Amino acid sequence: ARSQDDHWLVLALWKKMGSNVGIYATEALERTFVAFPSTKTYFPHLDLRPGSSQVKAHAQKVADALTLATQHLDDLPASLSALSDLHAHKLCVDPANFQFFSHCLLVTLARHYPGDFSPEMHASLDKFLGHVTSALVSKYR
Ligand code: HEM
Repeated sequence: ARSQDDHWLVLALWKKMGSNVGIYATEALERTFVAFPSTKTYFPHLDLRPGSSQVKAHAQKVADALTLATQHLDDLPASLSALSDLHAHKLCVDPANFQFFSHCLLVTLARHYPGDFSPEMHASLDKFLGHVTSALVSKYR
């Protein structure tokens, strides 16, 4: 699909999620911690048990950043510059972890929106998360 079609599909799903993005980000984070346990090492200071309010609060921040990204696809590196600094220099998150989380978010959205999750939607979301990841790891270079 053309990149504008990709963007349109992502925005359509985001509109459908409305204020629930944080709920799905929470599920995606919980899945990440279970499916890829090494990701937990970055959060020694948080209670990571299922249903944790700390994970929920963190996921809401991630969700808000993703929503911002859907609105700034044309200038992601600039929009996510501070977050890239944080993850690269302060938190030293290994870039592979972004792929783990992106995968878990895709699975989560496929589960909750089976009717919307066409192969085209899958591809568009995957590209979107790839763009976000590129922007977030840009400070590693
Ligand atoms: C913090 C976004 C992926 C580890 C944050 C914050 C945001 C964010 C918005 C809060 C920043 C603040 O409080 O100013 C994202 C996005 C991601 C992503 C959009 C991918 C799409 C990851 C991954 C890891 C990670 C894959 C590690 C496995 C952390 C840690 C913090 C953090 C450790 C600090 C948590 C705290 O102490 O409150 N991230 N993040 N992030 N992120 Fe990420």
